[in-house]
Amino acid sequence: MKNAKNTYEHYDNDDVDFQVRNKIILFVTGNFHKFEEVRSILNPMGIAVGMLRMKEKEIQSDHTSEIAENSAKEAYNRCHLPLIVEDAGLFIDALEGFPGPYSAYAYKTIKNKGILKLMENTQNRKATFHATIAYYNQKTGPQLFEDKIEGEITLTERKNNNTGFGFDPIFQPTQSEKTFAEMTLQEKNSLSHRAKAANKFAQWYNKQTI
Ligand code: IMP
Repeated sequence: MKNAKNTYEHYDNDDVDFQVRNKIILFVTGNFHKFEEVRSILNPMGIAVGMLRMKEKEIQSDHTSEIAENSAKEAYNRCHLPLIVEDAGLFIDALEGFPGPYSAYAYKTIKNKGILKLMENTQNRKATFHATIAYYNQKTGPQLFEDKIEGEITLTERKNNNTGFGFDPIFQPTQSEKTFAEMTLQEKNSLSHRAKAANKFAQWYNKQTI
């Protein structure tokens, strides 16, 4: 990815390219950050990933798993190739789980500043990021891999130049002094909801004879 517009550190996968030629899946997403995060988990585990930008109708549901499963089926029906999709959400305790499944809409409309505003004078800052990766091919049907990470909503936005996306500047995992947006890709991937779900997927996928 030498010339890619990569907001994270360059991830060098030249030496694994050779090993992964026979294992290629598509990641259907419009989010290059997500793609980079997942690719840098899957490549070293021997799975090559191509990014397919395809607009999917997202169903409304309280669970990222239902949204991801549905999106994977829809995407498979259109391209007939083995693929993954991912759905994530930020669930804030003091806001009764909001924005949760409405995270994309909340981010698009009120953004991080709006979330901080809603949390003004709120002592309980606990929040959890959930991610579900849904794999689909004709033989296996939908296969779901989920994980989460707990942390808190910071008092202000904190980020390094050019790192992170979405709610990363206001989410600090419990195990860290940094927000996701202050971390390198490798640091975020050592903890994140998405990275843990991607690891589960890779372990399952590598046992399949697909
Ligand atoms: P979706 O999975 O693309 O629907 O994500 C929902 C919303 O949560 C989007 O606005 C994303 O920007 C945000 N989001 C998802 N995953 C992350 C993450 O790892 N860090 C920060 N924001 C995220």
